[in-house]
Amino acid sequence: MAKAKSVIFVCLGNICRSPLAEGVAKEYAKKNNLDIKISSAGTGSWHIGEPPCDNSIEVAKINGIDISDQRAQQINKILIDEFDLIIALDDKNITDLKRMGANPLKLGDYGYDGDDVPDPYFFPGFEGFDKVFEMIKICVENLLKQKI
Ligand code: 4NP
Repeated sequence: MAKAKSVIFVCLGNICRSPLAEGVAKEYAKKNNLDIKISSAGTGSWHIGEPPCDNSIEVAKINGIDISDQRAQQINKILIDEFDLIIALDDKNITDLKRMGANPLKLGDYGYDGDDVPDPYFFPGFEGFDKVFEMIKICVENLLKQKI
């Protein structure tokens, strides 16, 4: 199969998990001189135009990645048609994307036995974002190695 040239990561709000996936993927592409289009989006509209949540900005920064310039957008049919790979962060995202006619893959299938990336939005504090970052980093890099 031809290699993919573009990838969009999709979670619920596009402020916690998928911005981290976008940041990790952009860093990996830069380091490996990959010419690919990378973005992220949410299935929900609550946070359109907002930067990533503070804890995601912080955990990315600790890991040498600046995601503070990202702004949330909502997934739509135009974006679905525009990207070769639509990558969902959990099963609810998969269901919502399929309902929109997309054919999503699940990020957790690339190193975490198909697990959901847990939604850290409702975690009490910073704890948990470290684990979420680690899971996203491993799976995003495996995905790009296989698909790009
Ligand atoms: P995300 O987290 O899907 O990882 O960006 C969430 C952010 C916001 C909401 C839910 C999840 N929310 O309900 O506003």
